[in-house]
Amino acid sequence: MKIEVFFSPVGIDELGMRGRNVIIIDVLRATTTICTALSNGAREVIPTADIENATKISSNLSSDSRLLGGERQGKKIDGFDLGNSPAEYSPEKVRNKSIIFTTTNGAGAIHKCRYASTALVASFVNVSAIVETIVEIGGTWTILCSGRQGAFSVEDATCAGMIISKVKEVSEVDTEDAGLTTLILYKNYKKSILGMMKKSQHGQYLVSIGFEEDLKFCSNVDGVPVVPVVSGLVVRIKQPGSSAQSITGQTP
Ligand code: MLT
Repeated sequence: MKIEVFFSPVGIDELGMRGRNVIIIDVLRATTTICTALSNGAREVIPTADIENATKISSNLSSDSRLLGGERQGKKIDGFDLGNSPAEYSPEKVRNKSIIFTTTNGAGAIHKCRYASTALVASFVNVSAIVETIVEIGGTWTILCSGRQGAFSVEDATCAGMIISKVKEVSEVDTEDAGLTTLILYKNYKKSILGMMKKSQHGQYLVSIGFEEDLKFCSNVDGVPVVPVVSGLVVRIKQPGSSAQSITGQTP
């Protein structure tokens, strides 16, 4: 397999992602929250880059079938139902709901992948499920790290390294300098993913605004073993038992 890594979505647009097999990562916290919402029974997540668009989509859906979720500066947006803490997305709150979701980095990165051939949402909480799926599909993959405000983030890159490392356990992997760097990071931090998050810039910021528990949740490797698939404008879960091939070529 061939796996390339982008450390941030800056300079990447929808057309650049078109036709690719992509894995989008925003460990703290967007992709962890999406995995959790879908695992807890949300019908779908609709990621969008800005608040105005989120509100517009929401006004087109019936109020008992949708929730508005997301953050700015890490905090719940005024008038929204939910913030961006994965634990908020409990089965009682999200079952059968469409979640319109806007976050600073992750939601926009996912939105940029809407024309990808296959686009999967990954985090530490679902890393093995993602690896199993991409190994079954094979071919060439791009890992898109959401990063932080356009810059590198160590937690996303370490998660990319964990994915590549696990693929290497079962298949040859051809990667480039960015991919090799993620492998070094993963080797360095694999004994304490939570420790790495506590040192990271965004981890420290989240602790400073009262979200230390989220770091524990987000570092729980394979705690939420789902495969969220981006299909045009929505993210839905791959049904257990369905073939990996059935999720390829989801988008135009
Ligand atoms: C993002 O998309 O930027 C984040 O998930 C930020 C956060 O809420 O921690």
